[in-house]
Amino acid sequence: MVRFDDEHWNTYNAAQEGRTPRRLCRRLLDRAGPGDGRRALDLGAGAGVETAALLDHGWRVLAIDPAPSTVERVTAAVAPAHRPALTVRRQGVADALPLPPLDLLHAGFTLPFVPPADFPAVWDGLRTALRPGDWCGVTLFGPRDTWAADPTLAGRLSFHDRDELDDLCSGWDVVEVLEEENDGPSFGGPKHWHTLEVVARRPLDDTGPR
Ligand SMILES: C[S@@+](CC[C@H](N)C(=O)[O-])C[C@H]1O[C@@H](n2cnc3c(N)ncnc32)[C@H](O)[C@@H]1O
Repeated sequence: MVRFDDEHWNTYNAAQEGRTPRRLCRRLLDRAGPGDGRRALDLGAGAGVETAALLDHGWRVLAIDPAPSTVERVTAAVAPAHRPALTVRRQGVADALPLPPLDLLHAGFTLPFVPPADFPAVWDGLRTALRPGDWCGVTLFGPRDTWAADPTLAGRLSFHDRDELDDLCSGWDVVEVLEEENDGPSFGGPKHWHTLEVVARRPLDDTGPR
């Protein structure tokens, strides 16, 4: 049985230190261009690898994660010269709402760990923070993921199929979706992965209230 508790995330995030930034972050940075001081949220920042990449590309970054040692771990991942542009908080997303206005949202392998009961309010809060022209890159878990059928995880993790993804992104330009399924390792043992990696943008002319 997998327990996504403090001990799990501490071990997981420690193992991520020093790796290269994930594909989702690289794709998002390619699309969004240089930050030039614009504001990014790294939601579920983990070891801070993607936080550091965003800072390296000129973004000011709010990094949040409820895992132990988040402040120390993420700060250590960031070059000292970039630390003035970093705000890091040990916090879950529901407690971070309402968010300040953003120009970019990055949530790599984080939103599936928001319980379904909280997900609508969290997603609404994220959408509200994004302004016309803003970029969003998120990983979702699909319904054929092993964990979707695990009764010990019922009510704890969120899963979305492609139609639900389109609903979540209604009114936005869904620029890229990489939907993948494969068998592979995880910190909870071997499993079937079903992931949707999404890059979307709120249209520039979408100026109505969110
Ligand atoms: C699979 S890890 C991904 C971390 C990092 N983004 C990466 O790609 O390595 C999931 C992260 O989400 C964080 N997390 C879990 N629940 C969360 C929540 N409600 N709000 C924000 N982050 C959360 C965990 O603490 C963990 O660091």
